[in-house]
Amino acid sequence: PRTVSRDATGVLTVGGIPVTELAADFGTAAYLFDEADFRARCRDFLESFGDADVYYAGKAFLCKAVVRILDEEGMRLDVCSGGELAVALAGGMPGERIALHGNNKSTSELTRAVDAGVGRIVLDSFQEIDRLTAIARERGVRPAVMLRVTVGVEAHTHEYISTSHEDQKFGFSLAGGAARAAVDRIIGDGVLELRGLHSHIGSQIFEADAFELAARRVLGLQSDIRDGHGVQLPELDLGGGFGIAYTSQDSPRSAAELADALRRIVKVDCDAMGLDVPRLSVEPGRAIVGPSMFTLYQVGTVKDVDGIRTYVSVDGGMSDNIRTALYGASYSATLAGRISPAAPILARVVGKHCESGDIIVKDEFLPADVQPGDLLAVPGTGAYCRSMASNYNHVPRPPVVAVCDGEARVIVRRETEDDLLALDVG
Ligand code: LLP
Repeated sequence: PRTVSRDATGVLTVGGIPVTELAADFGTAAYLFDEADFRARCRDFLESFGDADVYYAGKAFLCKAVVRILDEEGMRLDVCSGGELAVALAGGMPGERIALHGNNKSTSELTRAVDAGVGRIVLDSFQEIDRLTAIARERGVRPAVMLRVTVGVEAHTHEYISTSHEDQKFGFSLAGGAARAAVDRIIGDGVLELRGLHSHIGSQIFEADAFELAARRVLGLQSDIRDGHGVQLPELDLGGGFGIAYTSQDSPRSAAELADALRRIVKVDCDAMGLDVPRLSVEPGRAIVGPSMFTLYQVGTVKDVDGIRTYVSVDGGMSDNIRTALYGASYSATLAGRISPAAPILARVVGKHCESGDIIVKDEFLPADVQPGDLLAVPGTGAYCRSMASNYNHVPRPPVVAVCDGEARVIVRRETEDDLLALDVG
């Protein structure tokens, strides 16, 4: 985050507040949200993308306070479930600036979206086209829709977060002809307003050539639609997935570089195909919120395992950050409450859960005098950590504390054991 630095005594500070103070006030483990950094990233995307629409992907991290910030900054919001839609609406996001995604939206989710005046529903299956068509007929409305197209691009990322190769559950296959058939059905019926095509190739992607190929293929369909139906769809969504730096080895592109690259790609293809350039939109989640948060933990035990490595256990783990265990994601950790002159040792930062895969940072050099009571910060945990958090082992989920200009406020409170027990019946 931008406002993170060390004070004169070596204590990490965020938004002008030392983490020692934050730990004392809010406890650990806690997610610390650098609000100024988050706002700056929103502005950066909005300014860089100019007249394109920027939908923040709520799945990365969402709560009412974040929705309010997004609204204030003029962002749009992508949600992919009834729950995310409920948070978006409760946070005051106007319906027309919300997009609804999902490969298995229920009739009730679709109905709520239509009733809330959601600006676009991204269609993902033939059954869904039929379901939404029925709802629209019944209510006498004409919902605006996008069609999610699977372009067959193998993005270089983890298999579980890659979404545009053929053999997966999302979208309508381009190569198999389903995408064209879906377009024909929607345009033929005329009940839904088809605003454009949508492609999301995966997440944590660094190469522009994957987006280039996806755009070319999707615009190929755009051109077929023009030839077949005599219409040019006015919008095009190229999804999210822009990679961020989790460790010093990653070198992400700036929003400006991304915007320039995507605009150029689309312009070149449209010129070559004789198409009008559609209004672009993107859906970054990770690239906006990922770097804006870090997790603050307290060390509980330090164990040297037969000279192989030192295990540093903290008061959280795979329940607040599943990404290391699930995707083999890389994080770093740093001593946060002090600096130490001690020599570095090879450490593994682990949690308190009952399995050995409960690893937060696989390999990290920490000072040899790391000890119980020390605070550790793990940066880059804004995306898909709180949102994928669980209650494994009945560990209550940590709070999210927003810090800005010397002030801290809880935006998601810590779960309590009573919260956990509240669901038990009998
Ligand atoms: N748009 C669509 C249609 C998506 O499916 C996603 C992410 C995004 C946008 C936002 O992608 P982003 O810009 O945040 O990369 N849990 C995984 C990531 C799953 C992403 C799912 N879809 C992780 O922790 O890496």
